[in-house]
Amino acid sequence: MLVLGLETSCDETGVALYDSERGLLADALFSQIDLHRVFGGVVPELASRDHVKRMLPLIRQVLDEAGRQAVDVDAVAYTAGPGLVGALLVGASCAQALALAWGVPALGVHHMEGHLLAPMLEEQPPAFPFVALLVSGGHTQLVRVDGIGRYELLGESVDDAAGEAFDKTAKLMGLPYPGGPEIARLAEQGVAGRFVFPRPMTDRPGLDFSFSGLKTFTLNTWQQCREAGDDSEQTRCDIALAFQQAVVETLTIKCRRALKQTGLKSLVIAGGVSANRSLRQGLETMLGEFKGKVFYARPRFCTDNGAMIAYAGCQRLLAGQHEGPEIQVQARWPMEQLQPV
Ligand code: KG4
Ligand code: ZN
Repeated sequence: MLVLGLETSCDETGVALYDSERGLLADALFSQIDLHRVFGGVVPELASRDHVKRMLPLIRQVLDEAGRQAVDVDAVAYTAGPGLVGALLVGASCAQALALAWGVPALGVHHMEGHLLAPMLEEQPPAFPFVALLVSGGHTQLVRVDGIGRYELLGESVDDAAGEAFDKTAKLMGLPYPGGPEIARLAEQGVAGRFVFPRPMTDRPGLDFSFSGLKTFTLNTWQQCREAGDDSEQTRCDIALAFQQAVVETLTIKCRRALKQTGLKSLVIAGGVSANRSLRQGLETMLGEFKGKVFYARPRFCTDNGAMIAYAGCQRLLAGQHEGPEIQVQARWPMEQLQPV
């Protein structure tokens, strides 16, 4: 089965072709980062308009790259939520229009299920069951995964998502959007131990997270340094490192707890923040103690992309799922509501 996947939930237009026999044939991405950077974050209306401009040329591009034609496509999968409604509607309308024109089924995919399954596109995919840490710009969740659509939420952030904390903290320190990669870049030059930040909610039981206090702690530290006349690049790097270490250690402590609680030895990390090298290293060291293994996608498939939507859609379509011609998207959509495959 050849599936065209479309991703438009936020500020990336992602398109891919996934073949159930041959694997991923082609994928293309247009990132709107430059468009939104001057505003310090994503402007929803600009995002929607840009998806409209990029979608059809990207679809033509992946068909050409894969050496396929429209008549070869067996189904169209698109991100139906959660995300920005206007942006989601562009992908949903385009997918439904193509499906109608081509006489093939369409299927709306859950964006976080797409992220969760992205490591399945790698050479050594994880086997069910496993614990998944989903860390993106909008979500921080620990999930027990027994199969596709068989998700048990173990814990989540009570305020900011991990990626959101990176982005907001970066903004407070005058760094450009998106802040995650910027903080990671500065942290590489940071001196460890000069600043030590709290590890929120690790001193009490449970698997929930809270990152908004850490953001305020970082701002206060940065302001105190500036008031003392130190706004040097080195200080920014040292603060970035202290912040990143606090996030990584907090996530690692909770992942260890989730693995202990479930008795599982495989951990999947997915979503934009899973591209963070320090997080990958921290989790690999911890999993080493457990004689367990951590799985993640190549960096390009950690952040938003069409390949994960084509893959997740294909698995559900193969199981016989599809939907009618109505165009429906959801800004909020708990993953536990998904049907098992
Ligand atoms: O999954 P994603 O592309 O979009 C959402 O579904 O939200 O995640 C984007 C988030 C942003 O907050 C971005 O700052 C963060 O992932 N991010 C990173 C890194 N690369 C992207 N955070 C930390 N370190 C990185 N290397
Ligand atoms: Zn995402």
